[in-house]
Amino acid sequence: MGSQPFPGKLRLGVNIDHVATIRNARGGDHPDPARAARIVAQAGGDGITIHLREDRRHIRDDDLARIREISELPLNLEMAATGEMLEIALRHGPHAACIVPERREERTTEGGLDAAGQHNMLQPVVSRLLDAGIRVSLFIAPDPRQIEAAMRLNAPVVEFHTGEYAHAEGDARAVELKRLGDMAALAARNGIEPHAGHGLTYENVQPIAAIPQLTELNIGHYLVGEAVFVGLEEAVRRMRDLMDAAR
Ligand code: PXP
Repeated sequence: MGSQPFPGKLRLGVNIDHVATIRNARGGDHPDPARAARIVAQAGGDGITIHLREDRRHIRDDDLARIREISELPLNLEMAATGEMLEIALRHGPHAACIVPERREERTTEGGLDAAGQHNMLQPVVSRLLDAGIRVSLFIAPDPRQIEAAMRLNAPVVEFHTGEYAHAEGDARAVELKRLGDMAALAARNGIEPHAGHGLTYENVQPIAAIPQLTELNIGHYLVGEAVFVGLEEAVRRMRDLMDAAR
């Protein structure tokens, strides 16, 4: 297998969780994440990503059901590896499920999944999702141990956590970028499709988008924040243009 087994366009998955965060700040039903899903499709997004958290702090069960029904784009459900989330995923049958670590006290998903240390807990969840035809991704740190663990779990996809890269500056950012590039190449050489996401912005997305093995970026908080100023359609278009220009 060559170094680029998954050539082609870099997909943009738009995480619309924080549309629900704004809605939930007041209760009621505005702004509606399902409307956001339609706009993402018009704006050239390639997928909709939502994270149904255990505490339902943003996306709720009825959002998942409605988005699943109305979205023309593939749905990527981020989920903790719990029995409850597994049953929900199997019931709704999203295109993909990205398994993430989840702690109630965190503000966002702060680190990658310990796929290496949690093999026995993850194996049945991954197997049942795969058996149901759901494309499984593991949200991991760019680390060879975690890629090896993903291989042992037969995960077809990994998503690299780009938070360290996004928060670093100067030389430290260059180190993180190199790590992400090396790990994307390692994953691809081993037949795993590499994605990336977390903390990506207009300012930092292009070096990541230029990593040739990556096939998908998932971006949320920054786009919803920009949407406040320029609208969601414009924000998604601009990100799409920056990603395309970097390829
Ligand atoms: N990918 C995964 C697996 C995530 O958990 C998140 C954050 O919820 C993102 C991508 C998007 O991160 P951000 O909201 O910082 O763009």
